[in-house]
Amino acid sequence: MAFKLPDLPFDRAALEPHMSAETLDFHHGKHHKAYVDKVNEMLAENGMDDASLIDIIRKADDTGDRNLFNNAAQIWNHSFFWRCLAPPGSTRLSGKLKTMVECDFGSGEAMLEKIAIEGAGHFGSGWVWLVLENGKLKVTAYHDADTPVVHAAVPLLTLDVWEHAYYIDYRNERPKFIESVLNNLVNWDFVALNLEGVGLASADQQPLALADA
Ligand code: FE2
Repeated sequence: MAFKLPDLPFDRAALEPHMSAETLDFHHGKHHKAYVDKVNEMLAENGMDDASLIDIIRKADDTGDRNLFNNAAQIWNHSFFWRCLAPPGSTRLSGKLKTMVECDFGSGEAMLEKIAIEGAGHFGSGWVWLVLENGKLKVTAYHDADTPVVHAAVPLLTLDVWEHAYYIDYRNERPKFIESVLNNLVNWDFVALNLEGVGLASADQQPLALADA
């Protein structure tokens, strides 16, 4: 079964001015799509085309097939990333998530600052994540296509810090991109659902198997 490029969960202009429709045309329509096309091509060649995306990522990691791992992990990371975004001001940090953030970081602002510092300081391509690990919230970053799917961490929120994520709107100014997204576009409802373990259930190709990661 071939993987499909998931639709964006918002209108392509809905994140402006913080993330332009042109950025989404390239980032979703070309970069994300290229990972989907590449994985489908590789699966057709090696007969793994009935496996789930998460099984493919984990098996490729186990066997050291970095090409398959990188492309499959990038499908998953991007599909998760789009769902972490929402039109400006449409959701807010609240409830149990807010309580945990205040307990583990001191405040929502302190958490966002920690994510911003981690993302801005990450050398080269990668992703910065808010994860749940051993019952506590933690900010971390993984290089290139690396993904919590193969780590003992439950992903709650991610931010793509590959250059292709911001170059059209922010040129080389990664910190400005990070600040703009964190302060305006985070889908806190999705982050809260991930904390409850149900956020991925409705995504077309994101099995909820992360709970056993
Ligand atoms: Fe990306």
